[in-house]
Amino acid sequence: MEELIRLAFEIRARAYAPYSGYRVGAAVEGADGRVFTGVNVENMSYGATICAERSAIVKMVAEGSQRIRRIAVATKDGGAPCGICLQTMLEFCDHPSEVEIVAVNEALEPHYFQLSQLIPHGFHSSEVRRTE
Ligand code: THU
Repeated sequence: MEELIRLAFEIRARAYAPYSGYRVGAAVEGADGRVFTGVNVENMSYGATICAERSAIVKMVAEGSQRIRRIAVATKDGGAPCGICLQTMLEFCDHPSEVEIVAVNEALEPHYFQLSQLIPHGFHSSEVRRTE
């Protein structure tokens, strides 16, 4: 996990956050062991902003991996991932209690969570079917 934290912290420098000034870096390790990094990318049309966690997950899926093993997030103050990112993480895991999330601040102080702790009742419906 230390290596994942280092990668999240380093990539944070590339965040594009001219509107909030709140830089976020993320590193996701897939079940196959590959690691994908991401940053928040803001937009003048604020709602078009993508968070660091989702930008890393988008890279993971585009590169052919669809299962998250763990994820590190680096911010100024150690903030945990937002609800949209947590729901996106749920999409790409089999057992939310086995997905480890670590949030670190600028001093690299870690706070560990399980995905199931942060989003215990995420959206799921058998009415919404998978077609692939
Ligand atoms: N942000 C993330 O990148 N990840 C989160 O989980 C929460 C928020 C970004 C979005 C926006 O660019 C900035 O942080 C302030 O909300």
